[in-house]
Amino acid sequence: MTSVLVLNGPNLNLLGQRQPETYGHTTLAEVETLCRETAQSLGVSLGFEQSNHEGVLIDLIHAARGVHDGIVLNAGAYTHTSIALMDAISSVDLPVIELHLSNIHARESFRHTSYIAKVSVGQICGFGPFGYALSIRALCDHLNVSAGRK
Ligand code: DQA
Repeated sequence: MTSVLVLNGPNLNLLGQRQPETYGHTTLAEVETLCRETAQSLGVSLGFEQSNHEGVLIDLIHAARGVHDGIVLNAGAYTHTSIALMDAISSVDLPVIELHLSNIHARESFRHTSYIAKVSVGQICGFGPFGYALSIRALCDHLNVSAGRK
């Protein structure tokens, strides 16, 4: 069965409490439920992880090899800073969909730069938690998976 990893970076553990005017009121646990429902409807299995630590995120990307078929990555602020995360993605042969709850292009200029975009299939941003469902769908479409097949 196809397997997708949804990987969340720093401060996303505080979703629902953190700057709700920007990130909304949905908690990370609720996002995970949404992801699991989406994966189930597509007939794929799902891993869901969060870390505040760059090295742990890199380890999780490496560990995804041979376990998952692709990654939905909300790297949080590491998106805008981490060459190491970019290199980790380049080092594994797995498609990545870059995801953000907020529209990073409508925010501060430092958020307009993404190291993740350079090594991603595409980017989804600005749709809040629904973006997770969109990203899983986009990744499955990229992997050529649809409900009832593969
Ligand atoms: C974010 C956008 C980033 O710029 C920010 O640092 C985050 C969350 C988002 O989901 O909108 O932590 O990735």
